[in-house]
Amino acid sequence: MSELTASLAWNALQNHSERFANFSLKDAFSDDTERASRLSLSAGGLFYDYSKELIDDDALSALLDLAGQQNVAKAIQAMQSGEELNTTEGRQVLHHLLRQTDKSTIPTQLHPQFDAVINTRAKMKDAVARVHNADVTGVTGKAFTDIVHIGIGGSYLGPEMIYQGMQVHHLPSIRCHFISNICAHELARVLDGLNPETCLFVVASKTFTTLETLTNANTAKHWLEQQLGKNAVGQHFYAVTSSPEKAESYGISPAHIFAFWDWVGGRFSSFSAIGLSLALGLGWETFESLLDGAATMDTHFFDAPLNVNMPVLMALIGVWYVNFFDRESLCIAAYDSRLRSFAPFLQQLEMESNGKSTDLNNNAVDYHTCPTIFGEPGTNCQHSYFQLLHQSPEFVPVNFIACAQQEHTHKEHQDWLFANCLAQANALMLGQQTADQHKHMPGNRPSSTLLLDRLSPENMGALVALYEHKVYVQSVIWNVNAFDQWGVELGKQISKGIKPKLDTGDTHDLDPSTAALLTRYQKINEADDIPRQNTPDIKKRA
Ligand code: F6P
Repeated sequence: MSELTASLAWNALQNHSERFANFSLKDAFSDDTERASRLSLSAGGLFYDYSKELIDDDALSALLDLAGQQNVAKAIQAMQSGEELNTTEGRQVLHHLLRQTDKSTIPTQLHPQFDAVINTRAKMKDAVARVHNADVTGVTGKAFTDIVHIGIGGSYLGPEMIYQGMQVHHLPSIRCHFISNICAHELARVLDGLNPETCLFVVASKTFTTLETLTNANTAKHWLEQQLGKNAVGQHFYAVTSSPEKAESYGISPAHIFAFWDWVGGRFSSFSAIGLSLALGLGWETFESLLDGAATMDTHFFDAPLNVNMPVLMALIGVWYVNFFDRESLCIAAYDSRLRSFAPFLQQLEMESNGKSTDLNNNAVDYHTCPTIFGEPGTNCQHSYFQLLHQSPEFVPVNFIACAQQEHTHKEHQDWLFANCLAQANALMLGQQTADQHKHMPGNRPSSTLLLDRLSPENMGALVALYEHKVYVQSVIWNVNAFDQWGVELGKQISKGIKPKLDTGDTHDLDPSTAALLTRYQKINEADDIPRQNTPDIKKRA
């Protein structure tokens, strides 16, 4: 038995959860008319209502005991003061520095890192102004009108999600496009219709070694050179990386290389130079507002007592379901089409961080860690998997996210959207008791609601920081390192061994299933006879 599962706080929660067989949310609200206001709080422009969660005061206090036992307050301080939290890679974890502006609030020992942040921010601001003022242009002298961001994982999901979220802040003169998948249909979709003369490519890769990103960058480079000549890369390619020397050897000018550092994890890097495309596509002011919003949430996280600390409460409620109700999934239902990429963003943030089974003392865990995250924007989700949420044998916790005001003129749409969000949370809680078992809904199904006044850049920044900190707190409870991702390496290595076999057909060291699939692939490809999308360089096959 691990220290955690043998601990007093864990056992108290275990015992308390057993009493929840009889807990009724409906009764909890009628017994306590203050429940909705007591179990809610505001921070960083976000309002968090957790009164529809399956918790009572004893559960909350037992969860806070667990946080105390696991030294969550100390862990928060450790992040703030720059301790080496990423122990398996020997790195500090300082993404919170990326959004700070006031050096006097930064611990002295982190001043060198903060200076580096400020220098890069100044370089970004300067680059954004030059692009917007057409002080820098493409090789034919035309102003850039299209930013093509090439990256994957943390070098893609955050910027893409935020760019969609900030739809009403898109600059009319410049558009961002994102290429992540090595599937060239994505590249073809993006490049088709773009004029290379006005395209600025931002190659975003922390390591500058990632297969997908470099393969896509090479093809994009070729596409550009075919049309504008060999010297076009110098003016049309920028890089964001913590390996500037690799970007330079790739042919990108040092003036166009924007640094970030090994103390910023990829999935926590949205507000580093990885956000350069955001700053180009939204404008510097909007980018700074995103940083300000994230910084406000950082301050709340660092300063608020645990019992009124939004990321901490969210993390503890998550732990409550995962470990004491065996809930292995979490649904993210964002009722705003602009947040359609929020669940995919969280999938990496949460699952790459906490999908671990070895603890910080190198022991195998004997408890569940990160739940599976899934989600589609509301109301689309209602017409796909919400059936399961209402009537499957087991409940799935839901995080509803909604904006009270939307920046369009169609109030009818806005009201229906919010009415549906409220209705779903309500239906999950109340259920429907009917004699016809097919129509019966058990109810008592938990959810929380995050209500934003509107999807302003500040609130967007705070939302990202909220979940970043929630993930960290959960890792502290589960005693795992949220900042490494060794699990993704094996598949990458195996793919390197398999790729040449697609040419040679040598399957002798493969398992029978893989061998048969590879042979079938080869056979199908012998006849290169299908019509292909007419994208320069993609239609020509070696
Ligand atoms: O494959 C996982 C991963 O290493 C992520 O952690 C990272 O965000 C992504 O790949 C992209 O890596 P890079 O920014 O180095 O290209």
